[in-house]
Amino acid sequence: MKKKINNKTSLIAYLIANGISVPHYCYHNDLSIAGNCRVCLVELKNSMKPVVSCATNARVALQNSSVYHDSALVKKARENILEFLLLNHPLDCPICDQGGDCDLQDQSLFFGFTKRRFYKFKRIVSDKELGPIVKTVMTRCIHCTRCVRFAAEIAGTEELGVFGRGSASEIGTYIDKVLTTELSGNIIDLCPVGSFTSKKFSRQKLK
Ligand code: SF4
Ligand code: FES
Repeated sequence: MKKKINNKTSLIAYLIANGISVPHYCYHNDLSIAGNCRVCLVELKNSMKPVVSCATNARVALQNSSVYHDSALVKKARENILEFLLLNHPLDCPICDQGGDCDLQDQSLFFGFTKRRFYKFKRIVSDKELGPIVKTVMTRCIHCTRCVRFAAEIAGTEELGVFGRGSASEIGTYIDKVLTTELSGNIIDLCPVGSFTSKKFSRQKLK
């Protein structure tokens, strides 16, 4: 591996910079680390269980251990995490504007899920009115919080937040407020699933 690392480089950044594909939903190079989607798991030789590579320091990990990014344990662990993420995510790819450009869809195809467990019901989350740019389908949200961190850390407007806990968690605005800034459109690209898509270019609108 050639890429140089500094004291702050995360393991996932190091692996990606060296051409190794690591699935990730909550991690983004320009945002703070949340470590909540858990899909970026890798195996460390000295660790009893897989660790999330986005919240692991590359220098410490590489100095103290060997890193396995495609071992059988890693594959199984990621597969299980994906199954959890799909518990409530609707399988509506054919009508989703994000279909074909969706990280969750890509990983689902990669892991090739054909069997379902725990699928007695899926929760429903009401959509939010976020203004003229962003169309929302909140039932698809996997709570990666990229949008929340973007609003707070990049756009400088703490308008989005996570409300509720556990299976009642949902993303919303603190007060009934629409996002009017042009910058808000960036959450469309940031969202790894189809929760936020472009209102203007919605397929249903173009029909
Ligand atoms: S709406 Fe999209 S970006 Fe925001 S938390 Fe949900 S999945 Fe992540
Ligand atoms: S990308 Fe590491 S926990 Fe989400």
